[in-house]
Amino acid sequence: MEERIISGEVNEQEISLEQSLRPQTLKQYIGQNQVKGNLEVFIKAAKLRRETLDHVLLYGPPGLGKTTLAVIIANEMGVNIRTTSGPAIERPGDLAAILTALEPGDVLFIDEIHRLPRSIEEVLYPAMEDFCLDIVIGKGPTARSVRLDLPPFTLVGATTRAGALSAPLRDRFGVLGRLEYYNEDELKNIVKRTAELFDTEIDDQSAGEIARRARGTPRIANRLLRRVRDFAQVKGDGSINLNLAKEALELLQVDRLGLDHIDHKLLKGIIEKFRGGPVGLDTIAASIGEEAETIEDVYEPYLLQIGFLQRTPRGRLVTPKVYHHFGMEVPTK
Ligand code: ADE
Repeated sequence: MEERIISGEVNEQEISLEQSLRPQTLKQYIGQNQVKGNLEVFIKAAKLRRETLDHVLLYGPPGLGKTTLAVIIANEMGVNIRTTSGPAIERPGDLAAILTALEPGDVLFIDEIHRLPRSIEEVLYPAMEDFCLDIVIGKGPTARSVRLDLPPFTLVGATTRAGALSAPLRDRFGVLGRLEYYNEDELKNIVKRTAELFDTEIDDQSAGEIARRARGTPRIANRLLRRVRDFAQVKGDGSINLNLAKEALELLQVDRLGLDHIDHKLLKGIIEKFRGGPVGLDTIAASIGEEAETIEDVYEPYLLQIGFLQRTPRGRLVTPKVYHHFGMEVPTK
């Protein structure tokens, strides 16, 4: 699959840069007021009682700040964070090694926790509930199980697909935080904050222009800002104004709602080949030469979110908004 500048997924090159931009405290963190408000209370209460914070599950689309919040939780609790991911833990021994190395109160962050193998989940249950591990030593008739005590810890799990988590695992989290897409104002403030860290001057309108095209996602906003800043350095004096921002975003082929050529291909395909739908997912997939699963998991979520596409029992349907966006006449059916 080709790399898109408007993808919510992180790419290899930007991982360390993202780390350096990350807010470190709840106060510095912009947006997600509901989740932030809840965490603030639970963290305060746990600290007052000198207890470990309850296990936290963070879920929502990629790029909205789940890892950032995990780091903030550890900072606010004044403990260390140990980071791993579902696919990285292959055997029970991998998990045991991580758990036994924790210090009391530490945060264990498991990204993509829905990809944890089932056999590992079962080791995790007693660890989460009673802070102990049951491990089997030996094989065959002489095998026996020993119980190992663990330091109390907080598991912070992150997933883009809460529905893919098994119910017993989901039930063991005391705090659930659902991350939402950011509004334009919040993204604008994030762009301004990042520009300040970059020592780049940006005016209000330009920050707004980048925010509008960032698909509700800070990771995309910061990525667009970086490209616009490159453009400003090469074509201007380094500061970002509206004309320059618009020109740079035009070159990046991200339209004024943050749609790229793949979104255009999908939407125009449905309009031109199927009179706007409804049309079945597999039929669309075959007609534009993409996998049905990719369309469903990667291309569609944002288009559904902004009301450009509808899922109906008879298939996908483009809405009048799409015709307006492309300057086309809405057909009368
Ligand atoms: N950078 C990326 N996401 C952010 C957020 N939610 N708040 C502040 N800075 C950010």
